[in-house]
Amino acid sequence: MSDKPMLRALRREPLDHPPVWLMRQAGRYLPEYREVRAAAGGFLEMCHDPALAAEVTLQPIRRFGMDAAILFSDILLPLASMGMDLVFEEGRGPIFPNPLRGAGDIDALRAIDPASDLGFVGAAIERVKAELPDHVTMLGFCGAPYTLACYALEGGNPKEQRTVRTLMHREPEVFERLMGKLADAVAAHLEYQVASGAEAVVLFDTWAGDLNRADYERFAAPFSRRALESTVGKAPRIAFVRAGMHLLDSVAALGTEGMALDWRVDLDDAFNRFGDRLALQGNLDPTVLLGRPEDVKRRTQDVLAAAAGRPGHILALGHGVLKWTQPEAVAAFVEAAREPVPSRS
Ligand code: CP3
Repeated sequence: MSDKPMLRALRREPLDHPPVWLMRQAGRYLPEYREVRAAAGGFLEMCHDPALAAEVTLQPIRRFGMDAAILFSDILLPLASMGMDLVFEEGRGPIFPNPLRGAGDIDALRAIDPASDLGFVGAAIERVKAELPDHVTMLGFCGAPYTLACYALEGGNPKEQRTVRTLMHREPEVFERLMGKLADAVAAHLEYQVASGAEAVVLFDTWAGDLNRADYERFAAPFSRRALESTVGKAPRIAFVRAGMHLLDSVAALGTEGMALDWRVDLDDAFNRFGDRLALQGNLDPTVLLGRPEDVKRRTQDVLAAAAGRPGHILALGHGVLKWTQPEAVAAFVEAAREPVPSRS
């Protein structure tokens, strides 16, 4: 069994210090990332080139020494493999210019074969693994079916979710057919990433927090569970639902080894409720990193005090690093994880 701190935390073994990593730790807040991106010409170009994807995955590890490297890629790439046009517009984020419109489009989505459709992902994982320091865990990831359905149906930022909810409520069987196809694609892609060397995987459900508990249980959770089946017993899994405070019992029941919490969740309370069953990741508010390094340290110590050294804590932000973050703030966050854990006052 591996003694990497991240994997030990996912097994809820006691550790002197929690492992630490950050969502979006490779990204625009790093000058060395912006340099690679400018030379590559764009975000998708970087994702498709295993050498560039590996390089930017490793950049934050070299600079800050986190305990996990998350593959540089995107949750939306499998949708492109299923047949959807995907573009990243400067300043606007990802866009599907031809979003799914009805049962015909859904039935036309292809099943994916990750080794051929997403071979650049496996190649990037292998390159990162070859250079990773011994203590660092390689993370793979996918978007959860509900979040993927949101982008596929809305075409852009799914804030309103009008098309998603209309399909869900008017034609639930068509919606569930889409969710089933997405679950199978995610299952295949997670399994492929593990086969390529990912040592743990994260399932990101960025938009499911907008559902109430009953709709999450009916329309989202069964498909997340199906997506996670292919990796049972092969690698530990972490489930994340942004703004999912009201869904924690349901997310905990997905069967993953870890649950990531956003900053709105009381970490002490979450440990009391779930700490005997799950590793818990989180959960500093990413906006705190817009503050001064000494304040980042203090606020990180508050998070560590809430976890109080209980086994299974993985220190992380409650969501991704913001692009306006100064690298010094990320350094302060990572350093705070290595200092003595403050006791709960
Ligand atoms: O460092 C890492 O965390 C690994 C790489 C990673 C990216 N996206 C790179 C990226 C991961 C794990 C993701 C996941 C992802 N992508 C999610 C789920 C997690 C979350 O953030 O809620 C979602 C919803 C997406 C879809 C997506 N990709 C959006 C909405 C955007 C635009 C937002 C933005 O910050 O511009 C992207 C682009 C994206 N994905 C960037 C990065 C580094 C910015 C690309 C750039 O312009 O250089």
